[in-house]
Amino acid sequence: MRHLLTLADLSKVEIERIFSIAEDLKSKYESGLREPLLPGRVMALLFEKPSLRTRVSFEAAMAHLGGSTLFLGSDTGFGKRESLADFGRVLSEYVDVVVLRVGRHATAAELTPFCSCSVINGLTDFSHPCQALADLFTIRELVPKLEGHTLAWIGDANNVARSLAVGCGKLGLRMVMASPKSYQFSERDLAWIRREAPQGELILTEDPVEAVRDAVAIYTDVWYSMGFESEKETRRKAFAPYQVGAELMAQAQKGAIFMHCLPAHRGEEVTDEVIDGPQSVVLQQAANRMHAQKGILAWLLGAKG
Ligand code: CP
Ligand code: NVA
Repeated sequence: MRHLLTLADLSKVEIERIFSIAEDLKSKYESGLREPLLPGRVMALLFEKPSLRTRVSFEAAMAHLGGSTLFLGSDTGFGKRESLADFGRVLSEYVDVVVLRVGRHATAAELTPFCSCSVINGLTDFSHPCQALADLFTIRELVPKLEGHTLAWIGDANNVARSLAVGCGKLGLRMVMASPKSYQFSERDLAWIRREAPQGELILTEDPVEAVRDAVAIYTDVWYSMGFESEKETRRKAFAPYQVGAELMAQAQKGAIFMHCLPAHRGEEVTDEVIDGPQSVVLQQAANRMHAQKGILAWLLGAKG
């Protein structure tokens, strides 16, 4: 049984296979064809945090593939009524795959061994692998050969950044991250990333201009992720010099794209001018969540080997 808790769960070849399924299904979808690869299959979405993109793109993907979805809110009593082991074993009797959005990555890691269905991480505090796959799929549509190019990450070394660091490392994309010193990856994060993507080139700096200089893609995310709202004021001060505005974009390569996983805190990590400007691909990224997840579902559930 395969799971997707972090991008460490996939090899480069497997990521490329998922992309090729996603590409095929996207082009069919765009020409009006919805290939029912997963008829009768059932996906549960178990979400402890709000979501627009992840929830709706997974539900739409499963509907297009001919399967169905159960959205499980707090009324299942997840984490409260019974042990994670009992919950995982029982849920696996009913569904083929569960997408989890839980606060603590440890909860997902603890539940997964008890699941005899596939588990997909739909965001934890540690990792957001489905987002990173859709992002790399998006860059690949715009920059066909990823190897040797640079992605600049401006801001917090968070769940999305961690996933992109491993994904970029596996696919040969250099990643340069500009963050305030105290918001860079920890030594533990760096050891994990280097272990999972040993061939990757990951450079940390405090200087956003240095980070964007050779970049084909400039990526940012909120300064305080879900669960970090109590640190809002401290973080706003620390990250103020890291806002992605037109001046910073002008320091990047000509034609560089702007990326954000959304939701954005406009006026904080990014200006309206940049996120709504011609270099922004944020809507393409959001749309690709659905296409990339079709690739993940079809591959994980064995409809396409
Ligand atoms: N990017 C993303 O995961 O968005 P949601 O929180 O809306 O799912
Ligand atoms: N880093 C953000 C991503 C939201 C999709 C968060 O965890 O809130």
